[in-house]
Amino acid sequence: MACESEKWVLMVTAQTPTNIAVIKYWGKRDESLILPINDSISVTLDPEHLCTTTTVAVSPSFDQDRMWLNGKEISLSGGRYQRCLREIRSRASDVEDEEKGIKITKKDWENLHVHIASYNNFPTAAGLASSAAGFACLVFSLAKLMNVKEDEGKLSAIARQGSGSACRSLYGGFVKWIMGKHDDGSDSIAVQLADEKHWDDLVIVIAVVSSRQKETSSTSGMRESVETSMLIKHRAKEVVPKRIVAMEEAIKNRDFPSFAHLACADSNQFHAVCLDTCPPIFYMNDTIIGCVEKWNRSEESPQVAYTFDAGPNAVLIARNRKVAASLLQRLLFHFPPSSDADLSSYVIGDKSILQDVGVTDLKDIEALPPPPEIKDAQKYKGDVSYFICTKPGKGPVLLSDKNQALLSPETGLPK
Ligand code: DP6
Repeated sequence: MACESEKWVLMVTAQTPTNIAVIKYWGKRDESLILPINDSISVTLDPEHLCTTTTVAVSPSFDQDRMWLNGKEISLSGGRYQRCLREIRSRASDVEDEEKGIKITKKDWENLHVHIASYNNFPTAAGLASSAAGFACLVFSLAKLMNVKEDEGKLSAIARQGSGSACRSLYGGFVKWIMGKHDDGSDSIAVQLADEKHWDDLVIVIAVVSSRQKETSSTSGMRESVETSMLIKHRAKEVVPKRIVAMEEAIKNRDFPSFAHLACADSNQFHAVCLDTCPPIFYMNDTIIGCVEKWNRSEESPQVAYTFDAGPNAVLIARNRKVAASLLQRLLFHFPPSSDADLSSYVIGDKSILQDVGVTDLKDIEALPPPPEIKDAQKYKGDVSYFICTKPGKGPVLLSDKNQALLSPETGLPK
């Protein structure tokens, strides 16, 4: 290793999106390697609105691996972190930075420690898939720092060992996680079905709900489902394989009615499996489903797809911007903000949709008409904490602007 005496710090910063599954992953056949019992398909969300930024640094002056999440130091001793670090380290190659006069050989990486700082641009407590973006970003940025030559597919198999859904965040657009057959998990990887430009009409509105009960984590929830649900076996064997084929076809043809039908049915079946689990798991908020179902049935074909992960937040996918404006209008009617809220923090992300709805302040929300398809439309003031307007987005990127680094280039500690 060149310049051992000098206390140099070499670092890389990357940004990785989160994703929402439209055909769900639920259930593992191997707990430690994180191998699923079925394929799944997701849409990557625009990193501008929902992403993780991670800076990874290496220096001969670091005496242990350390990590900070949203500014707070966290332990790296968990098996999932350890596995990702080990897998990436074992694939490291020589690295040379001529400008700084640094040379690290493949062998040196075994003895060098890393510092990792990670930051989510959305509230971690909101129950949005932060572990997917987080592990994908950890693996992607470490791979760049250590000059790992493997492609995204191979990296996805490493991110998978941090959190299953993380493997799908290695790509933008529409992504399939192939469950694979091998016991060692080498063929359980993510592949891109289409990039984000393929179907760029879609608009996504996420309703982040306010009252969140203590939830069962995905990891333990799916373990209990595998142990106790009969329905999950039927789902994995008979239902999902057919839906995967149909969903790939719907995405390829930008066939929104089929896409919406499959996404809603799959979310509902996943939650039916949760209810079929002993003791039953309740994740979902059904008021929003009721509104969307009524609206979709009042139209000739579905306008909006809904999907829920292991929590009560609703992810709504509108077929285009015009529909997204009608959707937001309906959502704001049913779920007005509590009295102390302000509009700029109630609708975040791509706020420009608010103009299409004709809402510029809170008074405009009070004046919204009820949706024509609903008799005696109810209002649930304060039930939603805020809405995020976004769209399908791109995969991981390296950030070359040094100002975006989360660690100091001199000390390798959080800025
Ligand atoms: C409901 O990937 O969070 O979001 O692999 O145990 O870390 P682990 O679970 P995780 O599970 C995600 C489940 C889901 C559906 C999905 O994203 O496909």
